Amino acid sequence: MAAQIIDGKALAQQLRIDIAKDVSEFNERTGIRPGLAAVLVGGDPASAIYVRNKKIACEKAGLYPEEYKLPEATTQGELLTLIHKLNADPKIHGILVQLPLPKHIDSKPILEAVSQHKDADGFHPYNVGRLVEGEPVFTPCTPKGVIHMIESTGQSITGKRAVVIGRSNIVGKPVALLLMHRHATVTVCHSRTQDLPAVCREADIVVAAIGRTQFVTSEMIKEGAIVIDVGINRREDGSLAGDVDFEPVKEKAGWITPVPGGVGPMTIAMLLQNTVESAKRFAKQ
Ligand code: GUN
Repeated sequence: MAAQIIDGKALAQQLRIDIAKDVSEFNERTGIRPGLAAVLVGGDPASAIYVRNKKIACEKAGLYPEEYKLPEATTQGELLTLIHKLNADPKIHGILVQLPLPKHIDSKPILEAVSQHKDADGFHPYNVGRLVEGEPVFTPCTPKGVIHMIESTGQSITGKRAVVIGRSNIVGKPVALLLMHRHATVTVCHSRTQDLPAVCREADIVVAAIGRTQFVTSEMIKEGAIVIDVGINRREDGSLAGDVDFEPVKEKAGWITPVPGGVGPMTIAMLLQNTVESAKRFAKQ
C-alpha cells in the first residue's frame, strides 16, 4: 500500500496559526513583540529566498522582523560589529546568520558571537552542549521540524530503529540526538558507511540529509518505514528534488515527506517558535 504523505506545508500552516495566536496573547499581556533579526551576507540566490521567506513568515505571525542584507565584500569585523549591536538590542530576541557565509568569512567565530540567549538557530556551542545533555534551550530548527513530522504520524519513537543519513552539525548530528533523547536506537550513516543499504533496511525511521538527489532508493527501505527527506537539491532543469527517490519509495514506506512541501516549511515555523520562546524567557527576567 502506498505511504501516507506527511504534509509539511499543512503542518507548518497549523503551527503558524498557533504561533500567531500565542504572539498576540503575549503581546497583549506584556506589550512585547518577539523580534527576529535575519542576516544575509552576499548574493547567493537560494539564501536570499530563504531569508525573505523567514521575514514574510515573521510578519504574518505578528513577530517583529529585521532583515540585514550585507554585501559580499563585508569583512569579518563588520559582521561581528552588527552581531554585537543585535545582541544588545532589546527589540531583538532571535538572531540568525544565514549559512553558508562567503568563503572569506570564518563562520565559527561568527556563530559563537551570537548571544547564546538569542541563538534562534541553536548553533552556538553553549546551545549545542545543552542539546547533547538533553536539556535544550534553542533546538536547531530543521531537526525540531523533523521530529514534529515524525510525531505527527502518531507512531511512537521509543524503541524504534532510526537511521540518519548525513552527519552535519545543522541536521544529521542534532536529529540523531533528538531521536536518541526520545529513546530510539540511532545509527548515523555517511559517505564512508559500508553497506549503507543494509543498514537502512533495518530502520523503522529513515532521515535523509545528505544533499544527493534520489540517493535513497526503495531497496534501502523497510516496508512501512517512516521516511523523512531533508534534502533540497536542484536538478539540471531547475526543479527541486529531495534525497529520496520519492515515487518508488512511496510504494514501500508507511509515511513519507515530499520535496518541496515537506521539511522546508517546518524549518521556518520552528524558527518562529524559537524566537517566541526566547522573547518569553526575556520577559521573565
Ligand atoms: N542554511 C541552511 N540551513 C540553515 C539554517 O537552518 N539556518 C541558517 N542560519 N542557515 C542555514
